[in-house]
Amino acid sequence: MTPLSGKRILLVIGGGIAAYKTLDLIRRLRERGASVRAAMTKAATEFVTPLSVASLSGDKVYEALFSLTDEAEMGHIELSRDADLVVIAPATADLLAKLANGLANDLASTLLLATDKKVLAAPAMNLRMWLHPATQRNLTTLRNDGVLFVGPNDGDMACGEYGPGRMAEPMEIVAAIASALECRTAIPLPPGIGAWSAGTNGALAGKRVVVTSGPTHEPIDPVRYIANRSSGKQGHAIARAAAEAGADVALISGPVNLPDPAGVRTKHVETARDMLDAVDAALPADIFVATAAVADWRMAQTGASKIKKSNGGAPRLNLVENPDILATIAHRNHGRPKIVVGFAAETNDVLAHARKKLDAKGCDIMVANDVSPSTGIMGGDTNTIHIVTRDGIDSWPTLDKDEVARRLVARLARDLAAE
Ligand code: CTP
Repeated sequence: MTPLSGKRILLVIGGGIAAYKTLDLIRRLRERGASVRAAMTKAATEFVTPLSVASLSGDKVYEALFSLTDEAEMGHIELSRDADLVVIAPATADLLAKLANGLANDLASTLLLATDKKVLAAPAMNLRMWLHPATQRNLTTLRNDGVLFVGPNDGDMACGEYGPGRMAEPMEIVAAIASALECRTAIPLPPGIGAWSAGTNGALAGKRVVVTSGPTHEPIDPVRYIANRSSGKQGHAIARAAAEAGADVALISGPVNLPDPAGVRTKHVETARDMLDAVDAALPADIFVATAAVADWRMAQTGASKIKKSNGGAPRLNLVENPDILATIAHRNHGRPKIVVGFAAETNDVLAHARKKLDAKGCDIMVANDVSPSTGIMGGDTNTIHIVTRDGIDSWPTLDKDEVARRLVARLARDLAAE
């Protein structure tokens, strides 16, 4: 494992002589377990061929903004976001000027403007161009915008001059990529403005959605309870996204430290049995999303008074299994929502467990995620999920929980329309 293992890099190749070094960069990145998807400017294709880039990256090369084939396979907005990091190499004076000024008149500049990921630029240009006040102004603007830089280095230049302007060496760029990947997001969006997934708005108008969220608390005695680390962030985000898509949403929430989402009917519950009752009361619905981390067990009996320490050692907790809310609803013959979605929180063999749970619980979609403490997903703001259905597995990049919610809602709206 390296810091680059499994990372997705979108490499924007600008038109400069240093473009040849990106071939080596691609090899180095792939050797370290990263995948590279390349977009080239028209000028870049004069220096290296898309065929060489495609051969080394093992993926198709994106060149044209208005390519019907490209758009059908993957829209340019999706392309700009389906990466962990965007790298511009060589970052020419022209590309930097476009990005600094928000121009988007070809695929490369459009990707750079549309991305929600960090951008790392490896500039390369003639030293006069580099030192020109216009380029230096653009650099200041870009730094203020959060763009990261590696290089340029001093040295002999292809044009016969000596000075700053040589692109950083591939291994220097690899090191810069590894440290840039530790920075989480790109230019933050203003509060209240989201990266709205295309086609979601109004997509669930007239539909009813029930969502469970958060943990449940199962009392041990009047002061103690069994719980888990669920924050409710993902479930609440799904309820909010469904409401924003026009649905009538009932959110059944366990104990969480989150405000009730706007435009959503929220019912607060403590235990798994209360949650099941509340779900039943909220049905019928077109879609049921079971995001809650329901406690699997509860005390067989809880007394009215606090369990006291005794000399006889620790008390034995006599536990019984809680009802499985998801399985109960999904296995119903009458009044089953058209789409039932579960979440599989796993710490190992994520996909295999999720596939089994899909069948065992009888749901249509199992959203699988790895909740090992090292992922920071439980309680964190991002989620890395796999959509597991009987047709296969769709793995999504790491996204904000709000964006996961919007994309999931968009997908559910499409599935519902196709019913
Ligand atoms: N779930 C539920 N009721 C339960 C337990 C789980 O509705 N009593 C739902 C969760 O909301 C989630 C899915 O089932 O959508 C999977 O939950 P998870 O905790 O991953 O699975 P468990 O069935 O509890 O299995 P295990 O703990 O053994 O992994």
